[in-house]
Amino acid sequence: METPKKVLVSRQFPEIGISLLEQAGFELTLWSKDRPMHPSELIDFALKHQALLCTLSERITKEFLKRCRHLEIISQFAVGYDNIDVAEATRLKIPIGFTPDVMSEATADIAFGLMIATARKMFFLHKTILKGEWGYFKPRANLGMELRGKTLGVFGLGRIGMKMARRCKDAYGMAVIYHNRQPNPAAEKFLNASWVSFEELLTRSDVVSVHSVLSPETCGLFNGETFQRMKPTAIFINTARGAIHNEPDLIEALSSQQIWGAGLDVTNPEPMAKDNPLLSMENVCVLPHVGSGTMEARNDMSRLAAENIIEFYKTGNLPHVVNPSVLEKEGQTKCRHQIFEG
Ligand code: DGY
Repeated sequence: METPKKVLVSRQFPEIGISLLEQAGFELTLWSKDRPMHPSELIDFALKHQALLCTLSERITKEFLKRCRHLEIISQFAVGYDNIDVAEATRLKIPIGFTPDVMSEATADIAFGLMIATARKMFFLHKTILKGEWGYFKPRANLGMELRGKTLGVFGLGRIGMKMARRCKDAYGMAVIYHNRQPNPAAEKFLNASWVSFEELLTRSDVVSVHSVLSPETCGLFNGETFQRMKPTAIFINTARGAIHNEPDLIEALSSQQIWGAGLDVTNPEPMAKDNPLLSMENVCVLPHVGSGTMEARNDMSRLAAENIIEFYKTGNLPHVVNPSVLEKEGQTKCRHQIFEG
């Protein structure tokens, strides 16, 4: 039997993935603190391991990869991987695993929940009770808006966007329009969704829900200029990545009533400062990036992230890989000597 491979586990993951790795014979180092490792700690630890199991909190930068080019696999516990310099990892022929699909329902629930909570000012009203301000019934106060028959505009209609659109259609008969680089035929067939230009998405949507990846094209795309083109009654929902919207511009758009409300599960930066003006606005609901936070989703993410490592050392393939070219082109040679009988 070969020497067991050493896996650095960067956070406290749900037990299921840890057990799978242990049963498969890997030697694990578990980071047990609540805080993420500092970049220098991450490098120091990673240097003593062959595989890394990490989250969005770890910055897998060019600098990190330069120092840790010996890593044989990086398995990310998330569907998004904008914390990783994938181009550099690919250049160094390090495969990157990720955990798609399993958190789509959970994240769509958060997007849908934020939409309703924002439309009805739920977080703000909850705070009035905490402040002892639940006074007399006031027929004209605290009015929200109904969603029935409104138009949902999905920016980035993939796995999560489809589930958000399905919820909006089934619950409120909302019409679905979307903007993607490529049309989504399944959405057009099953949700009667229509592809529209970005401009039309902005001007026609009552609710704009962001589900795209963070990339140079989407970074800061929702800004003063784009909020201005939205309806003054529109609700902006972002459960994807905070950097897709410009936060000072969002604050300005809400304060000057260019748009009506916002529901955010992601902010820029994270964590959001507790005195951020968004937190005291009536029509804003903010959550601390908990889209995938169900027991079911997190267990499945843990399992998938572990399986990516196990499969890689068994067969040279990852069930869920971000940069398959690493396996296709050089994989046969690179992976053969890494097969682990554990
Ligand atoms: C993801 O998986 O990318 C989420 O944002 C974090 O759970």
